[in-house]
Amino acid sequence: MPLEIVRNDITKMKVDAIVNAANESLLGGGGVDGAIHRAAGAGLLAECRTLGGCQTGKAKITDGYDLPAKYVIHTVGPIYNDGKHGEKVLLESCYRESLALAKEHNCETVAFPLISSGVYGYPKDQALKVAIDVISDFLLENEMTVYIVIFDKAAYKISEKLFSDIAEYIDDNYVDEHTDYRRESMRMNALPQAAPHARRKKADVDFLEICDCKAMVAGDDLDAKLRQIDESFSQMLLRKIDEKGMTDAECYKKANIDRKLFSKIRSDIHYKPSKPTALAFAISLELSLAETEDMLRKAGFALSHSNKFDIIIEYFISKGNYNIFEINEALFAFDQSLLGA
Ligand code: APR
Repeated sequence: MPLEIVRNDITKMKVDAIVNAANESLLGGGGVDGAIHRAAGAGLLAECRTLGGCQTGKAKITDGYDLPAKYVIHTVGPIYNDGKHGEKVLLESCYRESLALAKEHNCETVAFPLISSGVYGYPKDQALKVAIDVISDFLLENEMTVYIVIFDKAAYKISEKLFSDIAEYIDDNYVDEHTDYRRESMRMNALPQAAPHARRKKADVDFLEICDCKAMVAGDDLDAKLRQIDESFSQMLLRKIDEKGMTDAECYKKANIDRKLFSKIRSDIHYKPSKPTALAFAISLELSLAETEDMLRKAGFALSHSNKFDIIIEYFISKGNYNIFEINEALFAFDQSLLGA
C-alpha cells in the first residue's frame, strides 16, 4: 500500500526517512522533536546546529544517526491560530517540501508524524486530511511508500459526525455470527426503506441472479450475462478499467495498491486477491454495491453483515464516497484493517 496510516512511535520506524515536526531553530524541543533527538543521539543536534534554522513550511534533511531511519527530514509546521491565517497552505507546504527532499535523496519509504497537531494546535482531523490529500496527490505521480504515524489513538479521531454515522450504520446492519437466518431475514426485512440493499442476503442474491438469468431467456444478452458469470476476478477488473476509461496506473494508484501487486493480478487471470485488495479495486472503480458483490464473488468472497470491515465499506459505497483514504481513516478509527494490499 503506497499510503498507510499506522499507530507507532515514529522513532521506531525502519524507513529511509522519518519527518520531524521541528521548530524554526531546529535545535530540538518537546513532542516528536524531542523524541527524535533523544533516539538519534547528540550527532543529530550537532548537524542541526550547522543548518541555520528552517522557515515555517520549509524542510531540511540530516542523517538519522542512531535512529533506524537513514535520514531525518526536519520541517516546521504552522502554529494554528484560527485557520484563517494561511495555516493550511503552510502545512501543505511542509508535506510537499518534505516529500520533494525524500525523492531527491531516493527514499523509497518515508514516515510522517501529524505535523502541527500537537503543541502547535492544529485540529487533528483537519491535520490528517491535509496530510492525506497532499501525500495522495504526490503518490499519483511518484512511486514511494508513505506512512502517516499516529502516536496515540486517543489523540486521533475522525470527525465526530462521521464516526457516529458509521457507528449507527454498523448498529443497523451488524449481525452476530450465531444469528439464525430466519430471525435475521425477519430483522432485515424490518429495515427502513433507506437500506434496500441490506435486505439482500447471499441466498436472496443467488435467487435474484437466477431470476435475472431466467428473465433473460427471451433477451439476447443471456450469453453476455453467462460470459460475465464465467469471467475471473482479474478479467472483470481489466474489463471494468476499460469500461471506466481509466489507465491501469490510475486504477491501482487510486486503489492504493502498489504496481508489483497489480502486475501479478494482470498477468494471471486466475489470480485470487485478498478481500481488502478486491474491495480496494471496487472502490477505485467506483462500483455499485451489486457490482462490488459480483467482483468480490469472483475473488471468492462476499460482503458480510457479521463483519464491521465489510459494513464500513458498504456504508461508504451506499453514500457514494469512494475516497479510499477517507475510508481507511474510518477503518483505522474502528480498529479494522485498512484497504489496499
Ligand atoms: N511518534 C509519532 N508521533 C508522535 C510522537 C512519536 N514518538 N510523539 C508525538 N507525536 C505526535 C503527537 O501526538 C502529535 O500528533 O506528533 C504530532 C505532532 O505533535 P508535536 O510533536 O507537538 O509537534 P507540533 O504540533 O508540530 O509542534 C511543534 O513542538 O516539540 C515542539 O520543537 C517542537 O516547537 C516545536 C513544536
